[in-house]
Amino acid sequence: MSNSSPWNHLEEWRHYSWRLVHKAAKTRKGPLRTPVLATVDGGRSSVRTVILRDVSLERDVLILFTDARSSKVAQLEKNKKSSLLFYEYVKNLQIRVNGEVTVHVADSVADSYWKAVPARSRFNYAARLAPGTVLEGPGDGLSEAWRNDISPEESEAAYENFAVLVFRARRVELLHLHPQGHRRAAYTRTESGQWEGCWLVP
Ligand SMILES: Cc1cc2nc3c(=O)[nH]c(=O)nc-3n(C[C@H](O)[C@H](O)[C@H](O)COP(=O)(O)O)c2cc1C
Repeated sequence: MSNSSPWNHLEEWRHYSWRLVHKAAKTRKGPLRTPVLATVDGGRSSVRTVILRDVSLERDVLILFTDARSSKVAQLEKNKKSSLLFYEYVKNLQIRVNGEVTVHVADSVADSYWKAVPARSRFNYAARLAPGTVLEGPGDGLSEAWRNDISPEESEAAYENFAVLVFRARRVELLHLHPQGHRRAAYTRTESGQWEGCWLVP
């Protein structure tokens, strides 16, 4: 393993990993685009795959979209503590992020992201009943209007179910598996926005 590898330099490794996450959101490609979001459901954990929609490197914020009626939203409204788990299998890099989520529905944050959601993608928020509702048979829960080319005006009906999850990162843990020596590091974000890191036994 070369000494110039990013995982041999504490601060550089965090920047490197954060840049990879940012790139996945921007290019809409690669395994880092679909992390696992964990929430607390009463006394249990609850996990699901989500799509990473946006990243602010300056504010250490990650953006996800969901249906405001989904279970995860109810869970986050009770307990905003949450985690995101990323695995980049080509680079053998695991990224664990702990943070807090604020839910935005029908406000200026939701509004600004909604404008960029194409009409054809708005069906994700358009089921007649809440996600997770029991059906009599197989189905996607959508009304007939969504099966054809829906106009931007008609697609506006889904806005009321559209939620933006703003995930503020507080702690990041990195793990790189390598035959010549694994590397693990943890970083905590201070109130002033600085990151303090340390190496850990993998
Ligand atoms: C590849 C993939 C991407 C997904 N992306 C999202 C997403 O961006 N937002 C979302 O709410 N659900 C997404 N889902 C569905 C969730 O995994 C989950 O099934 C759904 O949101 C209901 O979760 P909940 O009942 O815990 O709220 C995705 C599923 C897969 C397989």
